[in-house]
Amino acid sequence: SATRSIPSPQGLPLLGNTLQVPAHSPDAHFEKLAAEYREEGLFQLELLGRKVLFVYGPDLVAELCDETRFYKGIDPPLSIVRDFGGDGLFTARHDEPVWGHAHRILMPAFSQRSMKAYFPQMLEVARNLVDKWAVSDEVNVPDDMTRLTLDTISLTGFDYRFNSFDSPELHPFLQAMGRTLTEAMLRNRQLPFVTKLKKKQETAYRSDIKVMQDLVDDVIRRRRSTGGSGAKDLLGLMLEAADPRSGERLSDENIRNQVLTFLIAGHETTSGLLSFALYNLLRNPHVLARAYAEVDRLLPGDTVPTYDTIMKLDVIPRILEETLRSWSPIPAFAVKSFEDTEIGGYPVRKDQTAVILLGPLHKNPRAWERPEEFDIDRWLPENRTGHHPAAYKPFGNGERACIGRQFALTEAKLALAMVLQRFAISDPDAYRMKVKQMLTLKPEDFTLRVRERRAHE
Ligand code: HEM
Repeated sequence: SATRSIPSPQGLPLLGNTLQVPAHSPDAHFEKLAAEYREEGLFQLELLGRKVLFVYGPDLVAELCDETRFYKGIDPPLSIVRDFGGDGLFTARHDEPVWGHAHRILMPAFSQRSMKAYFPQMLEVARNLVDKWAVSDEVNVPDDMTRLTLDTISLTGFDYRFNSFDSPELHPFLQAMGRTLTEAMLRNRQLPFVTKLKKKQETAYRSDIKVMQDLVDDVIRRRRSTGGSGAKDLLGLMLEAADPRSGERLSDENIRNQVLTFLIAGHETTSGLLSFALYNLLRNPHVLARAYAEVDRLLPGDTVPTYDTIMKLDVIPRILEETLRSWSPIPAFAVKSFEDTEIGGYPVRKDQTAVILLGPLHKNPRAWERPEEFDIDRWLPENRTGHHPAAYKPFGNGERACIGRQFALTEAKLALAMVLQRFAISDPDAYRMKVKQMLTLKPEDFTLRVRERRAHE
């Protein structure tokens, strides 16, 4: 029975702990509290009148990942993201049938076979990245990784070209998206009546959403004008396929929400992963040396990578796995309880939100040996079972876990391999990690010096 009392920092009457959460770095604050309540593995905050649990004890998380007891919650901030994600996969409510329709229609687009089919386009965009770096001295890593991942999802998913590498400015879509995600994060700690009072922000928010939706409409219009090419990419499936179970097709409105969802979810996190990976490599020269040895073996000289070469990589995938442990681009995900229940003796109310904090989970000493160490050998086949089974959730959980996982990993392996094949990387300014949060996390103002390796050999 639920007998233990949940640690809860003292808050104010009415507003509870809301104002203690810093507007632009909520995750850093939650991590600090997690360190304070490390033993317990959870704490509770009162945010805008809701009692929200934050959980990172591996046994407690294992319970929350039981899908018979808990479902994906669409509360703030996700309920705010619904302003533009609508009933797309990411922000669909667990009881909306359209989630199942879209999930089943789109699954084939994320099979191994599809990854292989996307490969030439992934390669084309990755080449744009290394070609740009070949004529650069200092590069802004998160910006260029954002160009890479946005161009990749739009080309493979929608046969649409942003041509991001042709422009010194980030595409207007990205600027609108950055402001929109940041505003969604700010609204997360704002009383709804305050949000209503801030008329200027509201106008800017709606107009940014419109910028994104107009682009999406253009993507769909272009496809329709070619009479639907029969392409089996994301857009082709959405326009032409029916759910094999119910026979349902997606509405125009839902397709618009899905396209916008994929344009955002399909690039924002992968660019964070790649940026954090390069950061980790600079901090761990012995790992960097192993990565160079791997690309020199599998991709000597200017060998063009094939899908099969990428599948043979071993060090680089482990660098990515360990990077997702050390810096999860999505810092948290939320579930709710179907019933009044308890986890580890702590009470959880029906429909109460429990946020799983990935940073503190992924570095929990109860679950990991030497949690602060960047050790890619944790991910060797013989060591993979060395950690607690619920202690690694960078892609979320269960049926609502990331549909784009293989896509992200294929794209990231290819990009990292091509960067290391060609460049010696260094950071003369000794970058100190400064995390920028716009719902997701990225290193801010992270620049690198890149030199062509062959020129020095
Ligand atoms: C869901 C992480 C890349 C599309 C999720 C969730 C996480 C996640 C944690 C679950 C969120 C929740 O429970 O609220 C990541 C990370 C990525 C990545 C760390 C890169 C390293 C991608 C890519 C795509 C994508 C490349 C698309 C091509 C989605 C979609 C969902 C999702 C559509 C919602 C799935 C559903 O509920 O049906 N992702 N993601 N993600 N992701 Fe990803």
